[in-house]
Amino acid sequence: MSDFLIIAHRGASGCWPENTLLAFAKALDAGAKWLELDVHLSADGELVVIHDETLQRTTNGNGRVSDFRYDELQQLDAGDGEKIPLLDEVLELALGRAAVNIELKGARTGSAVARLLEQRFAARQRLPKILASSLYEKELRELSAILPSLPLALVADTVDERTWQLAEELNLWSLNLNKASIDQALVVKAGTEKRKLLAFTVNEADKLEQLKNWGVNGVFTDFPERFA
Ligand code: G3P
Ligand code: MG
Repeated sequence: MSDFLIIAHRGASGCWPENTLLAFAKALDAGAKWLELDVHLSADGELVVIHDETLQRTTNGNGRVSDFRYDELQQLDAGDGEKIPLLDEVLELALGRAAVNIELKGARTGSAVARLLEQRFAARQRLPKILASSLYEKELRELSAILPSLPLALVADTVDERTWQLAEELNLWSLNLNKASIDQALVVKAGTEKRKLLAFTVNEADKLEQLKNWGVNGVFTDFPERFA
C-alpha cells in the first residue's frame, strides 16, 4: 500500500463550501484518509474552523472572526446553509476515519489547540491522529510548550537555511510547502534532513504524479474525490 498522503484541503473544497462539516463529510465519503482545516479563535475563546481572519469571503457575515462570539458566528451561512464548525466537531467527525491536519491561523490558536487536546485526553475522549501546522513559528512554539509530543509542521512558500534550523529545533514531522517551491533538489535535501515534504495545493493529476515521482510524501488537494 502506498503511504503517499492525499490530504483533503479544507475538506472536499473544490465542490463543497470550504471548511464546513459538509465538505469534510464529502471528503470522507470519497475515501480521504486525511483532512486539512484552518482554525481561528472566536471572541469568547472557541476554536472555529475558517480560513480567513475575516468573514466576508466564505460567509454572509462581515468583519473579523475574533470580534464575534461563537453564538454570533453560528448565525452565519458558510455556504449551502452550512455553519462555521467548531474544531471539536470536525475531530468527532473524523474519529476512526481520517487523520486531521489542524492549521493554526489565528493568534493564540497554538495554546488553545493544546488545551482542547489536553481536555480531551483528560476526559478520556478518543482523538483522531493529529498533525498541527502553521505559517507562524510562535503558534508552533506555544503548542509544543504544552504538548511536546504532538507532530508539528511548518507551512511555507519558500525554504531557506532558517527553515531547516527550525525543522530541527522543533523536530518538525513535515514541511508543508507551496508546490511552486519544490524541485528534485529540495526533495533530496528534505531526505538528508529527514523531514517529510507535503505540497499545497495540487489539483491536477500530472502535477501530483511529478511530485510523487520526485519523492514528495503527500499533497493537499481541493478534489480528494479525484485521487483518494
Ligand atoms: O496547510 C496547507 C495549506 O492549507 C496552506 O495554505 O492558505 O490554504 O491555508 P492555505
Ligand atoms: Mg490551510
